[in-house]
Amino acid sequence: MFITLEGSEGVGKSTLIDLLKDYFSDKKIDFLFTREPGGTKEGQAIRKILLDKSIELNSYSETFLILADRYEHINKIINPALKKNQNILSDRYIDSTLAYQGAGRGIDQKELEFLMNLLNYPKPDLTIYLDLSVEEGLNRVKKRGKSDRFEKEDLIFFEKIRKFYLKLVTANPEKYFLIDASKPIDEVFDLAKNCILSKLNEK
Ligand code: TYD
Repeated sequence: MFITLEGSEGVGKSTLIDLLKDYFSDKKIDFLFTREPGGTKEGQAIRKILLDKSIELNSYSETFLILADRYEHINKIINPALKKNQNILSDRYIDSTLAYQGAGRGIDQKELEFLMNLLNYPKPDLTIYLDLSVEEGLNRVKKRGKSDRFEKEDLIFFEKIRKFYLKLVTANPEKYFLIDASKPIDEVFDLAKNCILSKLNEK
């Protein structure tokens, strides 16, 4: 089972992942938690460049770095785990690129799909999308203090990203599960956990 988690900034992905990690480890259900960018040692080096505020990247250079990170991640982590029939949860994947580099940076979706097809990537069985208003998300990020190269973008950038995610989710309800991330974290956790458990039972 291959699950991905998506959402814009400050929606609470990290907190949710920590709760899911504890839950599945308590229940002795084998789950591999991984993330993009930075799911491999090589990806961590790429992640540093991507998040560094002092570095200016052209949107295509940014995309190529994201794709290099993903290629390493697919070949070193995701495919080997899927081969062993392991359950995987990736914090961000393909849809982040369509949302951030596509809708956010303005790279043509067809171009992105062409480039991503070169990766020959496995498709997720389920994508959980945490939805939150841009203002609330950015407020949460502000409270954390330090911001990265993406988080310093303006409201309009993140509005485009959220709009894209919502369009994708509503167009493919069989593949996506939307959670209202303004709810208390234990409710968000219950919804995500139950959705994952029912998907595991289906298999
Ligand atoms: P992440 O550490 O998951 O940040 P956050 O905790 O805010 O979700 O990801 C780092 C940044 O990388 C995030 O701002 C989104 C960006 N990103 C893209 O722009 N495209 C992509 O394909 C991926 C995977 C991430």
